[in-house]
Amino acid sequence: MDTQPVGPVSYDPLDDATLADPYPVLAELRAQAPAVWHNGMECWLITRYADCVRVLRDHALFARDPRRLGVSVPEASLSVQVLDPPRQAPVRSLFMTALHQQDLPALQQRTRQHAASRLAALTEQPSWEAMRELAQPVALDAIADLLGVTPPPVDEWAQVSDTIMRSMDGGLDPDLVEPGRCARQQLSDLVASWFTSTGRPAGLLGHVRARTAEAGPEHAAYTMHTARVMFQGGYSTLTAAIGNLLDTLARRPDVLTVLRERPGLVPGAVDELVRFDGPVQGTTRLAAADVRIGDVAVRRGQKVTVLFAAANRDPDAFTTPDQLVLDRSPNRHLGYGWGTHACLGTVMAQRVLTALVEALLDTRQVLRSSGPARRRRTATMRTFASLPLSFQP
Ligand code: HEM
Repeated sequence: MDTQPVGPVSYDPLDDATLADPYPVLAELRAQAPAVWHNGMECWLITRYADCVRVLRDHALFARDPRRLGVSVPEASLSVQVLDPPRQAPVRSLFMTALHQQDLPALQQRTRQHAASRLAALTEQPSWEAMRELAQPVALDAIADLLGVTPPPVDEWAQVSDTIMRSMDGGLDPDLVEPGRCARQQLSDLVASWFTSTGRPAGLLGHVRARTAEAGPEHAAYTMHTARVMFQGGYSTLTAAIGNLLDTLARRPDVLTVLRERPGLVPGAVDELVRFDGPVQGTTRLAAADVRIGDVAVRRGQKVTVLFAAANRDPDAFTTPDQLVLDRSPNRHLGYGWGTHACLGTVMAQRVLTALVEALLDTRQVLRSSGPARRRRTATMRTFASLPLSFQP
């Protein structure tokens, strides 16, 4: 049986050409086989939409929790993101309920006002660095607003979060591991302070705190760890998504022109922008039993990496997948994942991105690149280290 097909495509998520534009190499991988073994990453790469959905949907066969395969996990990492059903269910449902208790239209309105005031200041500048001056503060304020906490100073927080994000590629670069551990400790201390603060907690965390008070210690720990994922994961992903969206809009000035004429398209267009160039490149699972993906045999215990970015450009799932189609419908892309580990913040993220685009439409300005942008050297998250932009009336 052919378990490890050797093909001509070499995939290095951190090489310059792939960081600049990963889609050509992902298309080659997709054409080659349903699963391609990557020696360096020691995993199967899954790139076809239908196979990706199957892996994400079948949590019995494809485990998120490594303990199911006898691999230990640090206690502090056990959150909604690592637990699989049935243990995941109470934590996920607690946060999901808390999210739906929030006044998200009001949050969208506040985010729109915040973005508008930042954009008004930026129209006065000949050029601005969009990640620092727009994406980071808008994302941080929105996520703190959702959770009901006071945001830390944005510059300090951005550094902590970037260090954590880069350490996710610790397997590719061991030097990132120790700084990542320190930054995670800072995050833990910050989130713990929200759980122990006196006074009446508000927002999503207020709801969560009120309902975990009587739960057992195991449940309380999962809750705290999940709050960390919500805050840091939510912030970093939202920041990256805003950067990618601004980059696409700067390359395609016609998009804002069309949306000014047809503002009803904005929510769908925002979703299409996430499909077209989303921030989360992929996720991993472990095969819980021997299984076939197409004609490829995957062994129990082997790692399987689902590449959302490849699935979202699969021509078998999307017509003209390499084009941005503002009114694409249906658009069941995997930018927010799928199944029991799908993004918990989807509805909030969609509202924040919509608020940002609405604020951009209000400026009546044309967004342009004002210098060479730099991608961050991260495999898991597609984001910018710097994105210089300018407005033209
Ligand atoms: C545009 C912005 C965002 C995108 C594209 C995005 C994307 C994703 C994706 C693809 C996953 C699934 C990963 C997997 O299957 O392993 C995920 C999980 C998650 N996201 Fe998001 N996310 C975004 C924003 C947010 C925000 C703002 C929050 C919090 C408010 C958030 C909270 C979470 C959580 C808690 C999980 C883990 C869910 C679980 O494993 O059960 N995300 N996100």
